[in-house]
Amino acid sequence: MFKKLNILDEKRPELRKVSTPVEGPLTKEEKDLINQIITELRYSQIEKYEKKYNLRPGMGLAFPQLGINKRIIVIVHEYEEGKFNNYVYVNPEIVSESEEMIAADVGEGCLSVNREVEGHVPRHARVTVEGLDIDGNPQRIRAREELAIAFQHEIDHLDGILFYDRIDPNHKFYTEQEMRLI
Ligand code: NI
Repeated sequence: MFKKLNILDEKRPELRKVSTPVEGPLTKEEKDLINQIITELRYSQIEKYEKKYNLRPGMGLAFPQLGINKRIIVIVHEYEEGKFNNYVYVNPEIVSESEEMIAADVGEGCLSVNREVEGHVPRHARVTVEGLDIDGNPQRIRAREELAIAFQHEIDHLDGILFYDRIDPNHKFYTEQEMRLI
């Protein structure tokens, strides 16, 4: 039976806190919750389920968005039509980043932000992220383009940062000459 997550709105104070690193192994409840997040993010990107369960499409979620201020992020990336990769990072850290910046041309969205926010969000085109998997083993990824944006967006949540904080109010949109728009 599919049960919808209770995702907090941007006004909730939990979204503005710096979350705490996870120490020790994940509990069964935390692992169950991670699986629930994966299912919902995947369903939200498949039209049939998106409609059936009235979901907003999203590719990532961070624990603080559920009111749990622990450093855990989940990304479900559709790398090819109908094909998904799941990324679960516990205590993720960006250990290196490209000098090159990019921005999603249509802007970014967030499952906690229930309104349109216009503007380009500057992000590193490539980031290397290190962290732990659900069993506490070290893992690392070199993410690029859309996936790199997703990692930066979700890791920001762990530090209480929302995507629109990074939109320059005096320069909301960039031209192709100023920034590579994807
Ligand atoms: Ni978000």
